[in-house]
Amino acid sequence: MGRRDGGRCRAGEPVRVPTVERFLVTGGARLAGTVEVAGAKNSVLKLMAAALLAEGTTTISNCPEILDVPLMADVLRGLGAEVVIEGDTVVITTPAELSHHADFPAVGRLRASVCVLGPLMGRCRRAEVALPGGDAIGSRPLDMHQSGLRAMGATMNIEHGKVVGRASSLHGASIGLDFPSVGATENILMAAVLADGTTIIDNAAREPEIIDLAQLLAQMGARIDGVGTATITIEGVDPVFMTAPLERLSRAGAQIDTEQDAVTVTMAERPRAVDFITMPYPGFPTDLQPMALALAAVADGHSLITENVFEARFRFVDELIRMGADARTDGHHASLRGREQLSSAPVWSTDIRAGAGLVLAGLAAEGVTEVHEVMHIDRGYPHFVEDLQKLGGQIERVG
Ligand code: EPU
Repeated sequence: MGRRDGGRCRAGEPVRVPTVERFLVTGGARLAGTVEVAGAKNSVLKLMAAALLAEGTTTISNCPEILDVPLMADVLRGLGAEVVIEGDTVVITTPAELSHHADFPAVGRLRASVCVLGPLMGRCRRAEVALPGGDAIGSRPLDMHQSGLRAMGATMNIEHGKVVGRASSLHGASIGLDFPSVGATENILMAAVLADGTTIIDNAAREPEIIDLAQLLAQMGARIDGVGTATITIEGVDPVFMTAPLERLSRAGAQIDTEQDAVTVTMAERPRAVDFITMPYPGFPTDLQPMALALAAVADGHSLITENVFEARFRFVDELIRMGADARTDGHHASLRGREQLSSAPVWSTDIRAGAGLVLAGLAAEGVTEVHEVMHIDRGYPHFVEDLQKLGGQIERVG
């Protein structure tokens, strides 16, 4: 028997157990209108972790109302912080003494909980963090997190399912990452702000969430240079971060108008097929790859999609095929011949972004598509149903 984790059994085969709560998506309606873009999951969770670096109160506003925020709040509470969530504001009060044991249930349920490693090493010079959970999108080792902290003088090991760090002191170091890992950059950055001397991170990630994090750290008194440029102002989502996705949409035939804090996208006819290659920022983001696949499934022509970041992120292609997509995968590549229309089918979300991609496919399909395991989508997108409804999408939450 398969287990009910993300709709998959141990062998990686989907488990088709209908879930009580699911989305019913009716294809065919034209989407037009305006929705507000919420704060980003992968930013707020790191900002929450950064609050551990200083005694006192940190207030984070414009937080998305997603399931991962209260989960992260539980992680911080387990370490001794007080966390109050009111609407889109999270207020974190960090005590003088923190626990360095992050091995309670909330930690295992949230990938971003690994971001407390850097702050705990910085503050306590000790950390025991249970290896985090997260989406089934590929292996997510912590070797770069550990080697960065080792270069700063810490002993780092994986022991009994936990990443365990100890340091008598932390010193600055010159650290070159093999790959611009977002998580490793964040952990090293957060430990380095409380280390003695200068730390240089080479090949650091440049994702927008790193810039958000550096800005908060700077407000907390850290001195950080070289993250983004001096002329970038960060307030919510700035369309400048969306260059690669918007460029692809434009090649697919969309008309794009960007303003300081808004972007208008109009697709007058069937999209043209375009190729997508996921890369670290400023490349096309892996987190938009499922949406790119949904677009390719209905585009006019043949698209080749290459995933370079997470090896198992094509798992959900089987769900698109159940909706009639003409798709096949081979290792890092997915090849799709677009169909004029997909057909509705019961489908299962396997992770946050795959779930969102399936909903988009459902909006372009004939009939009512039932999207199951919607808690994945709720983990990452606030008012997802309501926003699509505002655009004229026919989607309702049932169950
Ligand atoms: N990697 C290593 N060793 C390490 C760290 C990473 O080999 O020590 C590899 C990973 O296995 C992966 C690649 O490097 O193949 C990229 O991993 P990275 O560390 O950049 O990603 P992450 O920090 O684990 C965050 C987001 C992901 C997002 C990626 C890329 C969070 C909590 N998660 O993951 O978000 O896809 O960066 O932008 O911030 C999502 O939101 O759906 C999601 C999965």
